[in-house]
Amino acid sequence: MLAIRYNNRTFFGLKTVVNMPITSQTAKILDGLEVSAAVLTSVHEAIEAHVQAGGQRPGLAVVLVGKDPASSIYVRAKRKDCERAGIQARDFDLPAETSQAELLALIDKLNHDDNIHGVLVQLPLPDHIDEVAITNAISASKDVDGFHAFSVGRLALRQPGLRPCTPRGIMTLLNYYGVSAMARHCVVVGASNIVGRPMGLELLHQGATVTTCHRFTRDLEFYVRHAEILVIAVGKRGIVDADWIREGTVVVDVGINRLDNGKLVGDIDFARAAEKAAWISPVPGGVGPMTRATLMQNTAEAAGIQVPEPKQA
Ligand code: GUN
Repeated sequence: MLAIRYNNRTFFGLKTVVNMPITSQTAKILDGLEVSAAVLTSVHEAIEAHVQAGGQRPGLAVVLVGKDPASSIYVRAKRKDCERAGIQARDFDLPAETSQAELLALIDKLNHDDNIHGVLVQLPLPDHIDEVAITNAISASKDVDGFHAFSVGRLALRQPGLRPCTPRGIMTLLNYYGVSAMARHCVVVGASNIVGRPMGLELLHQGATVTTCHRFTRDLEFYVRHAEILVIAVGKRGIVDADWIREGTVVVDVGINRLDNGKLVGDIDFARAAEKAAWISPVPGGVGPMTRATLMQNTAEAAGIQVPEPKQA
């Protein structure tokens, strides 16, 4: 198996000649591990300076309802990131039978708790609970996920506010490596409330021409072939064929899929896409850690602490 080493990590399957350097056609890596570490350092430094100056340490309530295995893994990782960032995590692990009224009562309590600056309710919720009612019950000032209608409205209107973590994290990742969306044709595949829609808005705000593709898009290949920046956020392996990628495109893969052999992969064939792309984000180690680091950034900001954007060394 051919492999390249980058930042002490190995990327398998790239078309390269053994013992030869990477050719100019091989994509550079949008390294979410490196950039999320820089974000967490920046958040941590800002929080410690704030606490040293007599400010309150930010607190994040992390609410998990039920025992969905994937959600449990994500929540554990978020709680670990709180430790790295100097944020006080308060854990609420509730049984799957928790009623909507009980969850709303907890959110109300957290909304009025001065030690809590951010409230995160892990999605998806059990079927008997209305997710929209829950996300809109969180005080907009503590909506560190950026899912509240108020937060999304402010984003749409280009007003400052708490921004959804995955799209904001992707913008941080691109900016860190000097990749600008200004005047470029950006294609977002997927129109979910959490990623696709706010992603389009973020890119639009940076001056991009944005196309959003979704399940009713008639000729996905056509749009992908015309993408200068391509964000794939569907969660379906192979939804975009790597052959469609045009030379020099920037590829951001938000999908996380588990193969039969247990390996985690993105929505696109990384090795084949990397032969043509100028930049590409790997899975794992791309967008996932950026989402979590941005959650920490949002929590610090919800506590009134400004966090400088990390810059490449
Ligand atoms: N489920 C999948 N992604 C997310 C996320 O970013 N936040 C929350 N709260 N739940 C999720």
